[in-house]
Amino acid sequence: MAILVTGGAGYIGSHTCIELLNENYEIIIVDNFSNSKKESLERIRKITNKDFGFYEVDLLDQANLEKVFIENDIEAVIHFAGFKAVGESVQIPLSYYHNNITGTLILCELMAKYKVYNMVFSSSATVYGMSETVPISEDFPLGATNPYGKTKLMIEEILGDLVVSNPDWSIAILRYFNPIGAHKSGLIGEDPNGIPNNLMPYIAQVAVGKLKELTVFGNDYDTLDGTGIRDYIHVVDLALGHLKALQYILEHNGIDAYNLGTGDGYSVLQVVEEFEQASGVKIPFTIRSRRPGDIPVCYANPIKSKEKLNWTAKRGIREMCEDTWRWQQNNPNGYEEKKMHEIYCNYLEKVNMMKGRKSCAISYILTRKSS
Ligand code: WQD
Repeated sequence: MAILVTGGAGYIGSHTCIELLNENYEIIIVDNFSNSKKESLERIRKITNKDFGFYEVDLLDQANLEKVFIENDIEAVIHFAGFKAVGESVQIPLSYYHNNITGTLILCELMAKYKVYNMVFSSSATVYGMSETVPISEDFPLGATNPYGKTKLMIEEILGDLVVSNPDWSIAILRYFNPIGAHKSGLIGEDPNGIPNNLMPYIAQVAVGKLKELTVFGNDYDTLDGTGIRDYIHVVDLALGHLKALQYILEHNGIDAYNLGTGDGYSVLQVVEEFEQASGVKIPFTIRSRRPGDIPVCYANPIKSKEKLNWTAKRGIREMCEDTWRWQQNNPNGYEEKKMHEIYCNYLEKVNMMKGRKSCAISYILTRKSS
């Protein structure tokens, strides 16, 4: 029996796949690389020294997605795949609704067809909208304020209706607060396309010299230093939360939502300070006006995840910064595509194999030089 991980090449997906493989689960990854790189799959193999099934498939491609269910004995699905940029979702709402919702509908239809009724769904604290109070509990009012958050909210509703229609379903909805950090190896981490929207990858790119300085969006909030407060959670703690949720749904039916956060809030300036301590690098910043749509303070009440999933976050903000910095230092350009000479060597190997010659001396020299 295998665990199907949609979006398994992505930031949170790849970290979760590592923990699944470490626990000897058999996994099948489905990803279309719309917001991830193939190299992350190689890094997963390198870190775990284990292999897994992989299909480069878009969830909207029903025929090819069905092959995954035909060719594998799937026990449960961890569903990460989806567009996730808040600002972008405001610009191209139809793409977000089609990709995230239609993709999930196709996935669920195939799950039902092949009698796979177990799902862990990647949701977000953004479904709480502009919460009036903190800490935030799962029974707080829901109300997303952007198309991205609305897709998460609508999918949560769809999954709820699915369980009402067939009690065989067992679903855990995981509402992430602010995932940051990276695997201790420094081999995998967050690799956003273009200029990062989120705080931590932006700070990391300033520290490594890719970006000039951080813009702090507002210091006039009613907080200890005027800057926004968030619940940052280490991506490895988040990944381990998925394994706890998976174990839970394999033993229980029904549906429930869980906050995955630490319960602690840190301001923007506190995060900058922690990152400077962790990296030894000064982070220049400029204070500018608030970012539209930002809320002043957001952090979780994580008690339900502790009581029902037996999960709590263990890693603190300093470790999150240290692990982020290790990843960024080792990979200043993220999962850059294979270097040209590696591609050239592979080409020469193929040409020489076709001509029946031994491996090319040039490729050997180049490879030796790069190692
Ligand atoms: C954190 C704090 C900013 C960037 C978003 C999504 C949410 C979830 C997590 C997917 C805020 C400040 C940021 C910068 C800054 N994603 N900031 N300068 O907005 O809390 O949540 O990511 O599920 O859906 O909304 O995260 O990292 O963008 O911002 O001052 O360059 O850092 O104002 O106070 P956010 P963030």
